[in-house]
Amino acid sequence: MHKVKFTRSGKECDAEDGQTILEVGLGNGIEMQYGCCSDKCNKCAYTIRSGAANILHKGRTEGKEFRSLPWVRTCQAEVHGDVEVDA
Ligand code: FES
Repeated sequence: MHKVKFTRSGKECDAEDGQTILEVGLGNGIEMQYGCCSDKCNKCAYTIRSGAANILHKGRTEGKEFRSLPWVRTCQAEVHGDVEVDA
């Protein structure tokens, strides 16, 4: 079990390993914007405050793409450790 902290909402939520940040947020009543849920529209993009190294792109085993970005498409960002998101 991991922790996802939503800094703007002030909520800290439990996350199963491999859940996306968007799934965790919506499942806990966090107001998050999203659209396609398939890595195309960018509506679900949020800034990662900490823990970027604990995020893997959905279906991948390497997270380098996310480690180099200040933001992620949260519909594709799988949680594999504690993360803080600006949402
Ligand atoms: S909801 Fe469209 S890219 Fe995430």
